[in-house]
Amino acid sequence: MKTSSYLLFRYSCFVVISLLWFCGLGCKASERHLWDEGWRFSLRQDDKPQQSAFDDSAWRLLDLPHDWAIEGDFYAQNPSGANGGALPGGKGWYRKHLILHENDATSRYVLHFDGAYMNTSVFVNGTLVGTRPYGFISFSYDLTPYLDKQGDNVIAVKVDNSQQPNSRWYTGCGIYRHVYLSKSTDIRVAEWGVHAISKVKKGIGNLTLNTQIENPGGRSRRVTVRQKLWNKAHQVVAQTSKTCKVEAPGTTISQHMRVQKPQLWSLSSPYLYTITTEIIENGRVLDCDTITTGIRTVAFDVAKGFFLNGENIKINGVCLHGDLGCLGAAINEDALYRQLVMMKEMGVNAIRCSHNPPAPELLNLCDSMGLLVMDEAFDSWMQGKTAYDYSIYFKTWAERDLRDMVLRDRNHPSIILWSIGNEVLEQWNKTKNATVALENVNILLNNSRDKATLTQGDSLNLNAKLTQVLAAIVRRYDPTRLITAGCNEVSPDNNLFKSGALDVISFNYHQKKVKDVPQDFPGKSFIMTETVSALQTRGYYRMPSDSLYRWPTHKRPFTEPSFMCSSYDNCCAYWGSTHEQTWDIVKHTPYCSGQFIWTGFDYIGEPTPFNFPARSSYFGLIDLAGFPKDTYYMYQSEWTKKPVLHVFPHWNWIEGQTVDLWCYYNQADEVELFVNGKSQGVRRKSNEHEYHVAWRVTFEPGEVRVVARKNGKVVAEKTRRTAGAPHHIRLTPNRKVIKANGRSLSFVTVEVVDKDGNLCPWAENNILFSLTGNAKIAGVDNGSPFSLERFQTNERRAFFGKCLVVLQAGRTPSTIQLTAKSVDLAPQTIEIISE
Ligand code: GAL
Repeated sequence: MKTSSYLLFRYSCFVVISLLWFCGLGCKASERHLWDEGWRFSLRQDDKPQQSAFDDSAWRLLDLPHDWAIEGDFYAQNPSGANGGALPGGKGWYRKHLILHENDATSRYVLHFDGAYMNTSVFVNGTLVGTRPYGFISFSYDLTPYLDKQGDNVIAVKVDNSQQPNSRWYTGCGIYRHVYLSKSTDIRVAEWGVHAISKVKKGIGNLTLNTQIENPGGRSRRVTVRQKLWNKAHQVVAQTSKTCKVEAPGTTISQHMRVQKPQLWSLSSPYLYTITTEIIENGRVLDCDTITTGIRTVAFDVAKGFFLNGENIKINGVCLHGDLGCLGAAINEDALYRQLVMMKEMGVNAIRCSHNPPAPELLNLCDSMGLLVMDEAFDSWMQGKTAYDYSIYFKTWAERDLRDMVLRDRNHPSIILWSIGNEVLEQWNKTKNATVALENVNILLNNSRDKATLTQGDSLNLNAKLTQVLAAIVRRYDPTRLITAGCNEVSPDNNLFKSGALDVISFNYHQKKVKDVPQDFPGKSFIMTETVSALQTRGYYRMPSDSLYRWPTHKRPFTEPSFMCSSYDNCCAYWGSTHEQTWDIVKHTPYCSGQFIWTGFDYIGEPTPFNFPARSSYFGLIDLAGFPKDTYYMYQSEWTKKPVLHVFPHWNWIEGQTVDLWCYYNQADEVELFVNGKSQGVRRKSNEHEYHVAWRVTFEPGEVRVVARKNGKVVAEKTRRTAGAPHHIRLTPNRKVIKANGRSLSFVTVEVVDKDGNLCPWAENNILFSLTGNAKIAGVDNGSPFSLERFQTNERRAFFGKCLVVLQAGRTPSTIQLTAKSVDLAPQTIEIISE
């Protein structure tokens, strides 16, 4: 049985409207619509839902993007293990109807998936159209041959994430990125078919546009391909056209444009151009494709590092996995934007999409916000790191997946480097990885290898040749960008380095070997693709702060009863370093183009150094709920021009306890600390290798105050007071007005405070949330990496005084009231408008 006709109309009708911005650019023929709404979903083992007559009326109705794993409970026995986030896997089905009343025999319908994790099979009216194993790649299918153009069509999608572990981190489960449906004529611009290559010389931009045209219809066609370059003000600044004969199945043409005085894309002014490509036959526009791009120059110099538009810039980057904390892997533009804003405010100028092609929205945001990107293809090649990972599919799919990543992403000005892999085991000749438990994969990856496993001399082994093959695939589709790979074997005999195929030498960790790069890799430019791996729990401080904890101290299971790592910069994975140690090397090494810190945000999975119940990472500079850890401000003091004065920890200790106070500052010569008005001394960063100042003091209740001075004049002050008993709840939304579009989010910080509004740093009150208005609670969190509370519910315990509730607007404008209550605390209600 099929769903009711109302639902068919409401959710499935393919309404023919052109996107507004297409119209704005005079590009009207194409139709590409978000097709996220109104899918039926069920978790089930059998394959019956592929049949079009299958009755799905009892299934849950939902909108994509969707991640079913994040809705579940943490459980030690979930097959992903704590490294995968200890959340459920399984097999899920999505179904939706497409009703057509189509008279045009030549029209073509293509269904596009930005990404689904994983092993996706798409059926149309019961027939398998295609399968795609890689859960991070975008893919599409031409549905036309399977469709009834005058009737009701059933699209059924099986997403199978039951074979686990298949990742070293949390991936989510389901169609977790957007889905689009497009309609075109039978002659069209191929998907990702326009490649804009820009060059700038003496202030003049030269654009080459390579355009692939598909003509699957069989008949030879004479068409004009008209391409226009639009500036931000929607004015055409250059155009070109060519008339050509297109035989089946298609052809590629090249056109050129000159752009006088182009506005360059840069970090401070990320100027974007739009290019429209129209296919015109007998005066009729048959198809129109739109891409966005930027004009800029990028160079890696052997001695001086990275240059953007001729300016020498240190790449101050972070690695990010794809999950959005309590929202899981389901992509949400507001959540992603919030992450990137926080990164930018810290001074980050680059993102490494570790270790897979990201959601397109991330690249769009980086383009428009002025962030550089290293786009990465794989975490493993032929040799696996986990039992069911990509190595199973590599032989069959790697070429296609790599090609598709480059084709999809190559017009983004933000992308400055391609990475063909992360710490792939092909760096060496042999590995014993297959026999290692998941929680120890990382340890194995980062242990130094027996050099005997490396090929000596000039000969290249198969792994080196494979590197050449993969790099050649990338160059075939994008000859403009340089290629690297995250390498944790830093010997020049590493097969990847030895292949000669990597343009930029890159190290993961091994910061002490950076000094040897010029002699080990003469004539090569250099970057640190992954660094630090410091371990921190927001709000927790392990003293004395000048003791360094390098964890795990042995193979996992490694335990430490608190399940916490220290927020002083004094705890790190033993293959990593403190933040200050690596930054000091990167900062003072001109030939090091920069680094990507592991990681910007905490992510679900890989709870190094612990195991279950820990289930999310400790590596982030910001915790999973989005609350910065203290070291965030060290980078802010180094990487931005904002004045920074950050003293920590809090000031709630036991009377007489010895407490270490640290302070990050900039734009000042010295800082003086006062405890209840008594000076504890003046401190200065005495040389260019120091990044904080510290005092060891005896706690007494009251207040600590730091006073920063420049040339003897006070330039900033900060005070922390001892908080009294928890008294009330404070709610602070990041946005008071959101859009009534069903997706817009407000992230509300929830703090337990004393009667004077001081944060109670030890508070663990359980807080209950309720809502009125057209909205829902999309998730709750508190940043604890070992809390086993659900993410998708309406209550959360405070962790070191704080938690988070995320509101998601409905589709009707309304005034949303959020109330937070807890036993013994005065409640609070706030209003958020959705319009
Ligand atoms: C690296 C690896 C990352 C992450 C990190 C944790 O070796 O590339 O994916 O596992 O270690 O320190």
